[in-house]
Amino acid sequence: MEEVNNNFVAIKGHISGAPTESDFEIKTEKVSLLARDGEVIVQNLYVSVDPYQLNRMKNHSSSHAAINFAVPITPGHAIDTYGAGRVLASGRPDFVKDELVVGLLSWGEYTVVEQGRLLNKLDPMGLPLSHHVGALGFSGLAAYGGFFEVCKPKKGESVFVSSASGSVGSLVGQYAKLFGCHVVGCAGTQEKVDLLKKKLGFDDAFNYKDETNLNSALKRYFPKGIDIYFDNVGGEMLEAAVANMNKFGRVAVCGAISEYTGGGRKANLEMLHVVYNRITIQGFLAADYLKCYADFISITAQHIHTGKMKALCDISHGVESVPRAFIGIFRGDNIGKRLCRLQMSERLDQTLYMV
Ligand SMILES: NC(=O)c1ccc[n+]([C@@H]2O[C@H](COP(=O)([O-])OP(=O)(O)OC[C@H]3O[C@@H](n4cnc5c(N)ncnc54)[C@H](OP(=O)(O)O)[C@@H]3O)[C@@H](O)[C@H]2O)c1
Repeated sequence: MEEVNNNFVAIKGHISGAPTESDFEIKTEKVSLLARDGEVIVQNLYVSVDPYQLNRMKNHSSSHAAINFAVPITPGHAIDTYGAGRVLASGRPDFVKDELVVGLLSWGEYTVVEQGRLLNKLDPMGLPLSHHVGALGFSGLAAYGGFFEVCKPKKGESVFVSSASGSVGSLVGQYAKLFGCHVVGCAGTQEKVDLLKKKLGFDDAFNYKDETNLNSALKRYFPKGIDIYFDNVGGEMLEAAVANMNKFGRVAVCGAISEYTGGGRKANLEMLHVVYNRITIQGFLAADYLKCYADFISITAQHIHTGKMKALCDISHGVESVPRAFIGIFRGDNIGKRLCRLQMSERLDQTLYMV
């Protein structure tokens, strides 16, 4: 029976605080290429590297019980993640060898996808596979659903986006500009700020690390107040944004990365301001907006094809690169969607229009 060596990433134990490379190991297992009934054996081509995985690596997190995607990660075991791949063998009538797929794969070279686990056929629509893990994957859906469904924008409104050069934030800012809003983003380096203003069309942007007082920084950038805050970071930025919200403002809480490693201060909101200004603060998950999936894909793919939107990808290479790529997210190393490209044969490389 043919089998392959599958190298995959595992955590050595539960993680508290900021992750380090010594928290991870690369393990090897044999994977049979003979699929059993209900199984699909996938060669992973691109896998997503996301901040939320850190919460899954902790002993306790309020995310664990919320949704299947966020269940705890067991030390020593493979770590599931969204990704794109190619079918090597199928024990299901609806998937055939060599088909391209997207779904719940793993931080490894191969995934045995059991029946019931998320797996869909992929039509690349002439776009690189990497885009289908980023802008057209769950990051994109979080940006699209969060902005249009949670923030309920009106043309001309003022929008503030944190972690604006990241995977979700860069897309939110671009959706908001295309919709006709005034958009300001913040990010952690001058290079990122320049990118937002010069390449992504943000009206303005600033480096939050250069600001001693976030509240007054936001007053400077939004002299007439903020109508919509798309929050990726939580903590002190959330406090400052809420303090600058206009009446009937909306805050879409997508994530709180400044609070994941335990290093930053938790948000301490001025609740009277929330009450008297009738501000809506709503957390959400990308998966809540699967109902918008078809619109999201067709609109976003069209914007990318016509050059109206840029899908930024920040790609590391090979399974061994995943721990460093993941750790770097919490240091602000990435610009755009962080993902890992797995080893491929030259033939695959040429035929699958990778970037
Ligand atoms: N609700 C959902 O369904 C959903 C889906 C996807 C993502 N998310 C959440 O959305 C947020 C963005 O995710 P993403 O995948 O797009 O990540 P990302 O923005 O591409 O990468 C994370 C960025 O966060 C910034 N950051 C790191 N530590 C920070 C800190 N202490 N304070 C402020 N900024 C910090 C860094 O950029 P700077 O250089 O700007 O600091 C870093 O590059 C995360 O909170 C994530 O958990 C939620």
